[in-house]
Amino acid sequence: MARLDPHSYADAAQPGTTVLHLDLTVDFAAKQLRGTATLELERPADGQLDLDTRGIDVQAVTDGQGRPLGFTLHPAEGFMGSRLTIQANTDRVVITYATGADASALQWLEPAQTAGGAHPYVFTQCQSIHARSVTPCQDTPRVRQQVQAKLTIPAGLTAVMAAADAGREERGEVAVHRFHMPQRIPSYLLAFAVGNLASEEVGARTRVWAEPEVVKGAAWEFGEVDGILAAAEGLFGHYPWDRFDLLVMPPSFPFGGMENPRLTFLTPTLLAGDRSLVSVVAHELAHSWTGNLVTNASMNDFWLNEGFTVYAERRIVEATEGAEARALQAALGRRGLEEDVERLTKMDPAFTRLANDLSGVDPDEVYSQVPYEKGYLFLVRVEQAVGREAFDRFLARYIERFAFTSITTQDLLTFMQAELPQLAGAVDIDAWVYGTGIPADAPAARSEKLDALIALAEQFHGEAHPEAAALANLDATEWQVLLSLLPSTLPKTTCAWLDEHFALSAKQNAEILVAWLALATRSGHTAVWPKVAETLRAVGRGKYLRPLYTALVGQGDEGKAFAREVFEAAKDGYHPMGRALAAGIVGA
Ligand code: BES
Ligand code: ZN
Repeated sequence: MARLDPHSYADAAQPGTTVLHLDLTVDFAAKQLRGTATLELERPADGQLDLDTRGIDVQAVTDGQGRPLGFTLHPAEGFMGSRLTIQANTDRVVITYATGADASALQWLEPAQTAGGAHPYVFTQCQSIHARSVTPCQDTPRVRQQVQAKLTIPAGLTAVMAAADAGREERGEVAVHRFHMPQRIPSYLLAFAVGNLASEEVGARTRVWAEPEVVKGAAWEFGEVDGILAAAEGLFGHYPWDRFDLLVMPPSFPFGGMENPRLTFLTPTLLAGDRSLVSVVAHELAHSWTGNLVTNASMNDFWLNEGFTVYAERRIVEATEGAEARALQAALGRRGLEEDVERLTKMDPAFTRLANDLSGVDPDEVYSQVPYEKGYLFLVRVEQAVGREAFDRFLARYIERFAFTSITTQDLLTFMQAELPQLAGAVDIDAWVYGTGIPADAPAARSEKLDALIALAEQFHGEAHPEAAALANLDATEWQVLLSLLPSTLPKTTCAWLDEHFALSAKQNAEILVAWLALATRSGHTAVWPKVAETLRAVGRGKYLRPLYTALVGQGDEGKAFAREVFEAAKDGYHPMGRALAAGIVGA
């Protein structure tokens, strides 16, 4: 037995899947996917094939000729789900199955939960270990497969998938959509959505998909996508995935963005109306190289995906918007890191390491900014030590060397030491990768604007605050940075003053709005509670649920009771991941 990924029952001694064929009916009435998954294996299995499933009802297993194969669906083991053991000596298994009612990768939305209000909607979110609730599979990024999918959906709806579109056929009450993913992908990048979807072309390789009510605004917000793609290709080479389409999700989508190949999923909270949040698009695009081409071998190495991608994202931002913009993003990232290091240190300081051992740990429970921002700082530190030219050469060779493979931290370190021998003695790599907390030599972002914002933040002390005029011309990013730099609580009088002069509670920009509402709530400024409740009912992004619920829960018995009340009213609208996160905070 060779289980190399702590979050999968897949056995590295058994053959890997080379092609996954899905033939599924999307049944909105039953909130169920039903059909078959056919796994083509790289060679015949040697008696036994172990797969991951979660909540899946397995009806039958056969070989490629339809001959039944014996199988055992083992009892579920928490977040790992149920191991499916198939008795097989063949290079093809066909599994007939249906998804469970609470499939953790799926959110089934009632029409009322969509922008249009008239049609149901379903979407997947498979990272990190939820693909197994959509289909039996080797749910580890060590295995890469092509995907062929046939989705049978209600005729009035549209299916989109992180794959090439291979056509749609109307068949009376239903429509059949076919998709094909020619490049081999890890299971966590399996993704589709079905709903009332429209699209608009916004770039040479990009269309924006969204509900018709939202698509115009989305097309404007992401209108700069060609410039972002050009900058990324200038930095990391040819974009290898053909299309870069965008899907704007319903508000319950639990993440800011998800780098599903050829079709990035984005939270609608990016539609700020001023293009101020497009760095999320740069981030998901950057995953096309760091993550989707070079992939973490397991969640122990998640920082390889996210740390490299935040670094790449900030290089894109630097190229498209300049060094000042990059510095402000980095400063925001640093504050987020400091908060999460504090939070995780209380849980277990080991979770503040870049390289981890997450055996027995649910990756969703330890999601934090550490792999992102500590990973970013490590790479900036390395760049600082070797110079940009050498670092860029290293990055290009890293992508080329490991494209379409899944690697561990040790693979990276071995490669790095060979490519950048000058690092030895210059950077304490072990302390960065295996140590806890933020190393003392972490590079700090510097810029004129940032200095000015720091000076401005320092004017908030005690009851004092700057003149309104000093804040009158801040743009969206500057507001985000200023709010992040303020003390964690302010006097209620200062809160009232801020809201009166700058209408922060009425901000469209969700980053500003949520940072403000969390600060005001922590400060005991209960006037914002109704707006907090409204926000928690309207959006399901984990990044916003956490600070708002945490702030409420910190406000004594009354705050806790209010948080529970809001959660009870909002929870049915949340995605399973958002619901679990919020439930953990309010203690429900
Ligand atoms: N791949 C992540 C989202 C993710 C991570 C989903 C782990 C499930 C498990 C995505 O690329 C991401 O990092 N999104 C960020 C936005 C980004 C700009 C930092 C988010 O959702 O906040
Ligand atoms: Zn990411």
